[in-house]
Amino acid sequence: TSASAAVAVLSTILLSTSTLAADVKERTLKFGYSTFEAHPLGQGANKFVELVGKKSDGKIKMKVYPATQLGSETQTISATQGGVQDIVGTSTAPLTGLVKEYAIFDFPFLFANAKEADAVVDGPVGQTLLAKLSEKNLAGLCFFENGFRNVTNSKRPITKGEDVAGLKIRTMQNPVYIDSFKALGANAVPMPWPEVYTALESGAIDAQENPYGIISVNKLNEVQKYISVTKHAYSPWAMIMSKKLWDDLSNDERKIFVDSCNEAKEFQRKFSREEDAKIVADLKSKGMAINELSPEEVAKIKATLQPVIDKYSATVGADLVKQAQASI
Ligand code: PAF
Repeated sequence: TSASAAVAVLSTILLSTSTLAADVKERTLKFGYSTFEAHPLGQGANKFVELVGKKSDGKIKMKVYPATQLGSETQTISATQGGVQDIVGTSTAPLTGLVKEYAIFDFPFLFANAKEADAVVDGPVGQTLLAKLSEKNLAGLCFFENGFRNVTNSKRPITKGEDVAGLKIRTMQNPVYIDSFKALGANAVPMPWPEVYTALESGAIDAQENPYGIISVNKLNEVQKYISVTKHAYSPWAMIMSKKLWDDLSNDERKIFVDSCNEAKEFQRKFSREEDAKIVADLKSKGMAINELSPEEVAKIKATLQPVIDKYSATVGADLVKQAQASI
């Protein structure tokens, strides 16, 4: 009929204008991160890849390398700066070595809950920090979450700050974490993540700190007895592209990446938060002893760490600290 002919003509026109409108090239990109695919970060990464694929009509594909296959976070950040790797997902803590203002995310006890973390990470502070990566040959897309970090160790439950003293604890390669654990009397050993399981197993170190999901997916229950719910810091996880690739993208392509990251982020954070309760039950069933700290003891630890916060407030600048406080 003439009506169906008209529909056919119209859909051809719409199809050709939408193809014309989207300036998207065929690309296959190299995307690497440190956690396993089963972890909520891996699931969020898959969602991101799927969304980029969908929004680009299948033109932009990614070859994904989870589980530190391309190296530690510091190594993969460097590879992304050099354009050897196209996209990296990483905890933000190692970025502090490149852009000192990232240290604000590492302040102990900055966020009381996930809502506060979202407000800062998605607000002006997060935007400023994503933008600052361009000075380092990187392009920040958005933040997923690794989550609130808790201390595990093989010696004793930590119920107060003094229990941390004397522990040989692995920290990320980040000065705020190192200074914080030193202030509590621990022997802080910065170490790339791929070396941690073996170091815990051999007894070279007694302790480490990470969110529940990382503890579980890396089977740290095999080499650690105690989890103490210190929630001493929150780890955002940045999705970052090489500036070399970013500069080569059309505006349409840039929008595809940023929109896909922001959509995947919502999925990823929700999944991460829903998983936590299940993971705690699972780790208990595998023999880990999990203890909470009283609010009084947490307050004492906070007071001990205030000089560290003061030191790094000066590093990141009063304006950024004020901005963060205003978003909470
Ligand atoms: O502890 C770390 O280094 C990070 O939390 C990890 C496990 C590599 C995830 O980003």
